[in-house]
Amino acid sequence: MSIMKTKILVWDYIVRLGHWLLAGSFIVAYLSAESERWRMLHVVSGCLVFAAVVMRVLWGFIGSRHARFTHFVTAPKHAISYLKSLVSPDLEHHTGHNPAGGWAVMGLLSLSLLASITGWMTYNNIGGTKLGKWHEFAANLAWVLVIVHIAAVVISSYLHKENLLAAMFTGSRKGSLNERIKEVSLVGVLLYFSMLISIAYFTYRYVQ
Ligand code: HEM
Repeated sequence: MSIMKTKILVWDYIVRLGHWLLAGSFIVAYLSAESERWRMLHVVSGCLVFAAVVMRVLWGFIGSRHARFTHFVTAPKHAISYLKSLVSPDLEHHTGHNPAGGWAVMGLLSLSLLASITGWMTYNNIGGTKLGKWHEFAANLAWVLVIVHIAAVVISSYLHKENLLAAMFTGSRKGSLNERIKEVSLVGVLLYFSMLISIAYFTYRYVQ
């Protein structure tokens, strides 16, 4: 367990803006799924989900310290020991994603990717009704995980006495100075999001 010293920058602009873009697009896509009238909105937000996940995966390899997969994807035993610590007096603290949260992040990214790819294929008449069922299944499972994700954010914020939601806006969390990251430059942010929008645009253009 590390000793908390001060508030440090943990989530860079790309993680924060990328998160809210993914969350917003996912929610819009989910809510517009059933309506014929909002079909195009559903397709556009689905393409944005796809692009946001693809770029987040890239950032998971080349991004800042706490954004990298090597930093938060750990052996399942660490996730179990973290979950056990929640009901013990010796609560584990992790400056980035905790080990259980790391697996939830991977689940959210994988299911969002699966839902967007199967949706794109179904819309382009690839795979027939069977794939359409997979699309619905992946999206519903992702929605369940989103609910668990939001509940976990509320519970961890309470147990750790730290506002994790605010941290996803400001980027700052409790941690020791040697764990802080440097903010991404404006050029980096612009480059990242122009690539993301381009991926979404090309995905959308190839919708029949
Ligand atoms: C609207 C309600 C939501 C809230 C309040 C919320 C809040 C948060 C917070 C506080 C974190 C940081 C957790 C930590 O400190 O370890 C986080 C991370 C994350 N959330 Fe959400 N979230 C929401 C919706 C979603 C949705 C709809 C998705 C995807 C379908 C999503 C996907 C993710 C992912 C992938 C991360 C990891 C961020 C990264 O490392 O890039 N969230 N969320």
